[in-house]
Amino acid sequence: MSHVSAPTRRVTTATLAALRERGEPAVWITAYDYPTAVFADRAGADVLLVGDSAAMTMLGHESTTSITMDEMLVFTRAVCRGAKRALVIGDMPFLSYQPSNARAIRNAGAFVAAGCGAVKLEGGLRVAPRVRAIADAGIAVMGHLGLTPQSLGQLGGYRVQGKTLAAAQCLLDDALALQNAGAFAVLLEAIPAETAAFIRERVDLLVYGIGAGPHVDGQLVIAHDVLGSFVGDIAPRFVRRYAEVGAVTEQAIRDYAADVRAFRFPAPEHCYPIDDEDAAEFRAALRPRIEVAS
Ligand code: KIV
Repeated sequence: MSHVSAPTRRVTTATLAALRERGEPAVWITAYDYPTAVFADRAGADVLLVGDSAAMTMLGHESTTSITMDEMLVFTRAVCRGAKRALVIGDMPFLSYQPSNARAIRNAGAFVAAGCGAVKLEGGLRVAPRVRAIADAGIAVMGHLGLTPQSLGQLGGYRVQGKTLAAAQCLLDDALALQNAGAFAVLLEAIPAETAAFIRERVDLLVYGIGAGPHVDGQLVIAHDVLGSFVGDIAPRFVRRYAEVGAVTEQAIRDYAADVRAFRFPAPEHCYPIDDEDAAEFRAALRPRIEVAS
């Protein structure tokens, strides 16, 4: 009998299609660093999105538009090192794809070189040429519609999108433009469940949601939101907190600081022992010398 365990099979876009076929929702979570990627992968997440939300969650910027390709690639390589099974998707940051098809292909390719299985970009009809160019380069690409944080200025802030049938129809037009351009999926953010269902019924894309209700092919959450470690003022309605990592971290550092200041840390068990003979020599060497004045 062999004791060699079977290699872990990497989640691919085909795996995601198979999940949808079986009516099983895919589990997505953002990850920006090696430990989170390892924990999420071990916990069975199907997709790790290296979101440009890293600008806010990891770098303390006010919006996602401040993060650069170089910064995104540092986070992405760390996540790819940690993910053994999950599909890693790289989120194309602001101005990494908007200016030209050539730039879009080059930057999407950089995410693939870093280890990603796909890339995501924001928009529908207006980015369809970029989606087509990236898909034609052989890279799996998906869109992101609804509340698209890279166009926060145009949207007038963090506001729910697609609340009327007319607005839902516009989102559907965008989703169809992505589909026709060769995207494999679309992510819907901050829209009513009815709007998401309306779109999902009418497209052949895989449809995922963050704040888009249950009638989609899987759910994305921001790791810092569900772990309770986001430092900032945004508290979307769609977040459920599963832990208080921020509070636990702060308390642990307070306890450590108190122990240092009260000389409770380090304790004997944190110090390296030496032989008794060597200890005696140290004691003798440390004995205060009596200086004789001449
Ligand atoms: O950057 C990100 O994490 C995202 C989600 C907010 C959808 O794009």
